[in-house]
Amino acid sequence: MDRRGFVTAGMTAGLAGVSGAGGALGSLLAGVPGWGPGKTLPDGTIRLSSNENPLGLSPRARQAVIDAIPVANRYPSDAAREVEAALARQLGTTPDHVILGAGSTEVLQMAVQAYQSPHAPMVVAEPTFEDVPRYQRPFAYDMVAVPLLPDMSHDLGRMREVAEKDRRPSVVYVCNPNNPTGTVTPSAELNEWIADAPETTMFLVDEAYFEYVDDPRYTSALPLVDAHPNVIVVRTFSKIFGMAGLRLGYGVAHPGTIGRLRDFISSNNANVLASHAALASLGDQDLVARSVAVNDAAKQIAHATLDELSLEYLPTQTNFIMHRIHGDLGSYIGRMRDAGIRVGRPFPPMLGWNRVSFGLPEEMERWAETLRGFRERSWM
Ligand SMILES: Cc1ncc(COP(=O)(O)O)c(C=O)c1O
Repeated sequence: MDRRGFVTAGMTAGLAGVSGAGGALGSLLAGVPGWGPGKTLPDGTIRLSSNENPLGLSPRARQAVIDAIPVANRYPSDAAREVEAALARQLGTTPDHVILGAGSTEVLQMAVQAYQSPHAPMVVAEPTFEDVPRYQRPFAYDMVAVPLLPDMSHDLGRMREVAEKDRRPSVVYVCNPNNPTGTVTPSAELNEWIADAPETTMFLVDEAYFEYVDDPRYTSALPLVDAHPNVIVVRTFSKIFGMAGLRLGYGVAHPGTIGRLRDFISSNNANVLASHAALASLGDQDLVARSVAVNDAAKQIAHATLDELSLEYLPTQTNFIMHRIHGDLGSYIGRMRDAGIRVGRPFPPMLGWNRVSFGLPEEMERWAETLRGFRERSWM
C-alpha cells in the first residue's frame, strides 16, 4: 500500500467508531506495543508550540537508546559513521554526501558560516524559519527577506533577482515546505532556477517536513545534489521520527560541498544515544507511515474545528497549521497558556494568525474545545 493508502486506511480505522479521540490513537497504533505518547507535560499542559511529534520515540528507538547507554562513556564517532552509512543506503547515495548535525539546525549554521560573506548576501522568504536569519545576524552581512506570494509559496522570481543582482555570489534559503506557513513551493520552479543558476548561488533547501507532504507539485531537491555542488538539502530526525530532544539532523550535498561544511562542524556533534535511536528509526519501515497517520488524524480535527468556527487557515503539508485568530495575538497566546495549551509564537508579519502544531487526537480535541470557548466569549 502506498503512503496515502496507508494513511487513508489508518484514519478510517482510527476515526470510525471513535467515542473519544484516544480510541482513534489506539486504532492508529494497533500492533505497535510500547508506543506511548510523549507530549503532554507532567502538569497537564499540552505543547502545540514547537512542531514536535506527539508520539515520542518509536518503541524500537527507545530500546536502542536504553541499549546504547553502556557505551555512552565513549565518543560517538563509530555510531555516527554508521548513521551516515545507513542514510546513504536509504537515500541511494554515498556516505561522503552526508553530514550530521546536532539537529538539522547545526547544518544550517554550518552552511551560513561556510558560504555567507560580506560579498554573498543571504536571501530568505518572509515569514520563514528563523534560525538561518539568526545565524547570519552576528556577522552583520546583508540579508534580504522577500515576502511570500499570496498563495504562500516562495517568490522565487523576486528572490532570484535579488540573489543574482550584479552577478554576485549569494546564499538562498528555501524552506520547503515552509515553516511557519506549512505551504509548499512547487519544486519544478525551484529546480528550474537551480538548473540555470550560477554556481556562486548557494541553495540551502530545508526539507525538515518533507515526509508529511502529499502535494503532487512537491519533490525533494535531493536528486540535484550530484550535478549541482551549490545545493545543500537539510533534513531532520526531530519531526517524523520524534527525536527533537535527542538532536540529530543531516545535510546531503556534493562531497566537495560536504567537505566545506565540515570545516565548520563541531567535533563529535552527533551524540551516541541519538545515533543509535536514528539507526533503529531508519530500520523501522512502518514508522513514517504511522507518524503520518497520526498527524493526519490531528489535521482532520483541526480542519473540522476551523471550518466550524469559520477561521481561515492555510493548506498545510506539515505537522502544524497556520490559522486566523481575529484579535490580538499576544492575548490569544496568553489565554491559550491560561487554558493549559502552548501554541506557536508570533511570526511577523502574520500577526493576525497563529501556528498550532498537531498533537495527539485527544490533545487536538482539547484545543478545539478551548477555541469554541474563546468564540463563546467573543475573544475571536
Ligand atoms: C524548517 C525547520 N528547519 C529546521 C528546524 C530545526 O530542527 P532540528 O534542529 O530539531 O532538526 C526546524 C525546527 O522546528 C524547522 O522547522
